[in-house]
Amino acid sequence: MVKFETLELIFDSPREDVATLRFNQPELLNALSKAVVKDLQAALDQIESSASLLRALVITGSGDRAFVAGADITEMVKMTPSEARSYLRRLQQLFNRIERLRVPVIAAINGYALGGGLELALACDIRIATEKSVVGLPEVSLGLIPSAGGTQRLTRIVGESMAKLMILTGERINATIAYERGIIAKVVKDDQLDAAVDSMLNSLLKLAPVAIGGAKIAIQAALNVPMTSGLEIELNEAVNCFGTKDLREGMTAFIEKRKAKFTGN
Ligand code: COA
Repeated sequence: MVKFETLELIFDSPREDVATLRFNQPELLNALSKAVVKDLQAALDQIESSASLLRALVITGSGDRAFVAGADITEMVKMTPSEARSYLRRLQQLFNRIERLRVPVIAAINGYALGGGLELALACDIRIATEKSVVGLPEVSLGLIPSAGGTQRLTRIVGESMAKLMILTGERINATIAYERGIIAKVVKDDQLDAAVDSMLNSLLKLAPVAIGGAKIAIQAALNVPMTSGLEIELNEAVNCFGTKDLREGMTAFIEKRKAKFTGN
């Protein structure tokens, strides 16, 4: 485990090839202060440098009240426009780095995921939330707009109409409504989050890592580039799979009517 001032990065839970990034300031509802941003940057450096050994990343918040309650309002209130530009740019860049990881990233949402907290979760691949969780982009109620990717990612996920409803009114919605809108992939009982994450990891970790990474990149392309470029990216990722032992193993196992054993090669 690597402990930072405001968060921790655990490499041995439940397996060594799964990392858990846990925001660790429950008394501040894990708000994203400048200190957290600095730690997140250092943690991501470590995650990226161990990328070849990593099969999945879980991001969560400590305590039972919040995933992340947003950017730190007590700091933002004092920022000049140019300070805000560099702080928000940094947040955007960090969330982009999370999105671009070639391993599946699970957001385990255990309470409030508001503002930057939801924006962080939106940069993850699979969002699992407890029933009591509350999500939203309430920035307009502070005189701001979502600015760590929220206007872009939420709109791509829920469409223009729902994104405008949520962002222009700043509404906070519970996990079930967020599930119905396609923001959350799975809602679980409050005491079932760890079990749900483990079960998701078990499913993911049985499969071919190069294929999972390629599928993730191709799906993201669908949201970001024109169809012709997206199809090219899909093709390249598929061709890349043909260079792996795992593809031969997966297909041979099918033909031999046995379970495939993937190695990540
Ligand atoms: N920035 C800075 N501090 C925050 C914070 C944020 N985004 N969210 C919560 N906190 C702090 C509170 O100021 C409080 O600190 P204190 O104990 O020193 O007063 C502590 O976390 C607990 O929050 P509190 O508001 O007392 O808890 P609550 O249960 O009454 O309300 C929330 C919880 C999440 C509804 C409420 O804290 C909230 O609305 N937070 C802001 C959410 C937001 O607008 N995020 C977008 C920011 S761009």
